[in-house]
Amino acid sequence: MSEGRTSPHAATRGTVAAGQGEVPRHVACVMDGNGRWAAQRSLPRTAGHRAAETTVIDVIEAARSAGVGWLSLFAFSTENWRRPDSEIAFLMCLVRRVIRKHAPLLHARGIRCRFLGMTDPRIPPELAGDIADLMTLTARNRQMTLTVAFDHGGRRDIVEAARSLIRSGVLAEAVTEETFAAHLPFSDTPDVDLVIRTSGEQRISNFMLWQVAYAEWVFPQVLWPDFRAPDFLQCLEAYRRRERRFGGVLPNQNGGTQA
Ligand code: IPE
Ligand code: IPE
Ligand code: MG
Repeated sequence: MSEGRTSPHAATRGTVAAGQGEVPRHVACVMDGNGRWAAQRSLPRTAGHRAAETTVIDVIEAARSAGVGWLSLFAFSTENWRRPDSEIAFLMCLVRRVIRKHAPLLHARGIRCRFLGMTDPRIPPELAGDIADLMTLTARNRQMTLTVAFDHGGRRDIVEAARSLIRSGVLAEAVTEETFAAHLPFSDTPDVDLVIRTSGEQRISNFMLWQVAYAEWVFPQVLWPDFRAPDFLQCLEAYRRRERRFGGVLPNQNGGTQA
């Protein structure tokens, strides 16, 4: 949608309160609380993951309709490999099923789909194949970019960017925030404006560490499988009321500096 019009890091360099009153350009969700949702119903954790599918589709549509240009969803972290094998296997199958089922809808809605992470050899090749197919199918879409963070770790991305920079032979003195960011995966992705973490947990859990540097945060109590379009719109409304200063002062607060 707004891809390519400004540099990925324009927000942090830009005018004070640049995001105020606007729809956030890039919203990132930490989809948390599936296990607790299931536990509340005396169901296995996997039932919570299955129930999350409806929320994912609802939020994608809500974001697109609201004019969000970039939506990122945290689906599986590098730390989630610590979970029981049976839960991991279930998640791999579920993601595959969701992709196959919803690929036509995502494409019809003009959504470009990308997967961030995806380096671990434990990812089943059939899943990797379906993901590659979805990315190819939707590559030219421009209504919204959906980034699914899967086998993603923010620190790993930063380490990989550092390796890539060193390999490129760049002089240490030539490394700037912009040149560094250009070595991150999907480096055209703009900084995150708003992070939504459901379930009341208030931590980042290694999610897009570079890109969230100046994001606004909201922590709805609702568990991810119960989160719906109206909850998403409430988060956008909370964002609209925030004053983003990026370390500066608001124009109408400049007056107090005279002696
Ligand atoms: C988020 O829900 C989904 C994934 C991390 C894959 P959780 O599975 O973390 O649910 P809780 O936090 O245990 O409730
Ligand atoms: C973060 O949630 C990862 C995803 C939502 C995919 P977790 O539930 O795994 O994170 P922690 O363990 O609470 O930090
Ligand atoms: Mg969790």
